[in-house]
Amino acid sequence: MTPEARAWHPPDLSPTDPTRIPAMNGSRLLVQPRHVAEADAVRAFLDRPRPAAMEIGFDHGMCLVDRARAFPDTLQLGVEIREARVRALQPHLPANAHAWRVDARSALLSVVPDRRLSVIYVLFPDPVWKEALRHRHLLFSPAFTTLCARALAPDGILHVATDVQPYFAFVGSLLGNWIPADPPRMGAELSRRERVCKRDGVPIHRGSWRAPIRLDEQGKRTHA
Ligand SMILES: C[S@@+](CC[C@H](N)C(=O)[O-])C[C@H]1O[C@@H](n2cnc3c(N)ncnc32)[C@H](O)[C@@H]1O
Repeated sequence: MTPEARAWHPPDLSPTDPTRIPAMNGSRLLVQPRHVAEADAVRAFLDRPRPAAMEIGFDHGMCLVDRARAFPDTLQLGVEIREARVRALQPHLPANAHAWRVDARSALLSVVPDRRLSVIYVLFPDPVWKEALRHRHLLFSPAFTTLCARALAPDGILHVATDVQPYFAFVGSLLGNWIPADPPRMGAELSRRERVCKRDGVPIHRGSWRAPIRLDEQGKRTHA
């Protein structure tokens, strides 16, 4: 681990309102008219009767395309904040994949239906090296894990990989009451960061979890 990675530490969450979603341009962005059509296209994509997975921060999208080809019985939604990456990928997407330029937190908050996803893949989330920005830009927070729990089907899995060990420990602490699970189906393709780690012999930390479950009044399984 590099000294920078070893020194990484999570933002101070004590003054944070756990219901506040620090998403890019604000979490209400998607109700603005120019984003409504994009959001509706994603709703229509997810409305098809097939299991759906979501990859957050797909970058070049190699894993997204690979999984869509390998698992044609599923829908593969990818979200990425870098517009150029999304545009570059779009012509190469199979029909069961959709790439959207959006902050994952806004997508989960306003567009992905409750219990819709069988997997959320978070492969090498940005550690946000600038400490001053970490509070706003770090993907994982109590609010984010709540959104994930809401979007996952009762047997759905949140899968995380990172080479920044303290970030992995932080994720583990946020998911303290989640249930460790077997990893979800992965394609054969490695993500860009994973390739670099393998090439340089950098250890990778991986975890898969199911959200905590409780029974509702009718005895149906639901998330805590
Ligand atoms: C460190 S890179 C890892 C990329 C790729 N998953 C990999 O394993 O090589 C993190 C990616 O997440 C994207 N990203 C960061 N925050 C995001 C957010 N809130 N919503 C969606 N994508 C995000 C970044 O633009 C970047 O492409």
